[in-house]
Amino acid sequence: MLIELEKVEKIYNRGRANQVRALTEVDLLVVAGEVVCLRGPSGSGKSTLLAIIGCVIPPTSGRAAIAGKQLARLPDRFLTIHRRESIGFIFQRFNLLPTLTVLENVTLPLLPLGIGPRERRQRARRLLERLGIAHRENFPAGQISGGELQRTAIARALINNQPIILADEPTAHLDTRLSHEFMAIMAELKAEGKTIVITSHDPLVAEDSVIDRVVEVADGRVRCC
Ligand SMILES: Nc1ncnc2c1ncn2[C@@H]1O[C@H](COP(=O)(O)OP(=O)(O)OP(=O)(O)O)[C@@H](O)[C@H]1O
Ligand SMILES: [Mg+2]
Repeated sequence: MLIELEKVEKIYNRGRANQVRALTEVDLLVVAGEVVCLRGPSGSGKSTLLAIIGCVIPPTSGRAAIAGKQLARLPDRFLTIHRRESIGFIFQRFNLLPTLTVLENVTLPLLPLGIGPRERRQRARRLLERLGIAHRENFPAGQISGGELQRTAIARALINNQPIILADEPTAHLDTRLSHEFMAIMAELKAEGKTIVITSHDPLVAEDSVIDRVVEVADGRVRCC
């Protein structure tokens, strides 16, 4: 089991006036190689759930084991290492640095790993070629199109060959053609054995043949596991 959540709860701002219960007793199991879509209305807790799976935020309670490690048992420093090795995260707004070039953005996650500049560039170029944006490698990320930004964000999520790919509303800012292209890239990654979790309201995502299972999220709860 690559992703294992048991009775996971998330309460933001606990004990304060602005307390929000975002997740309640969430159980979710995802096996290696599976592609899951988290679907639900705005505010239902999809991004929160993805951020917990991605080791970006800790659950308030419950058990979360990602790629064989119990998150609660990992000290912060090891959690960061575990995240870098196991998870590629494609953020809704891509989170690229606009003044850095496409190539620099893609190689960024390799900097703390002590991988030399030559290998960093080689790995990034291979991915940029595969994703069809090698011709943009020296452009600042602030000066490329939405589809190119998306593919740069995918390249950055793949640069360390992580087994788990998470994408938060990946098609929210894309037109239909680019959304289909995104799903085609996901199909390739699935064929390579990656485990993928995508949050989306977009029927084009949930109904795509690459999705093995749709998990409904409603009011902080998941309907099935
Ligand atoms: N950092 C935060 N601090 C406080 N409350 C938060 C925080 N992030 C999310 N929430 C709240 O938690 C609930 C779940 O939010 P979340 O972003 O997970 O929903 P979502 O399903 O991803 O929504 P959307 O479809 O609009 O992206 C919402 O009520 C939201 O306002
Ligand atoms: Mg969200």
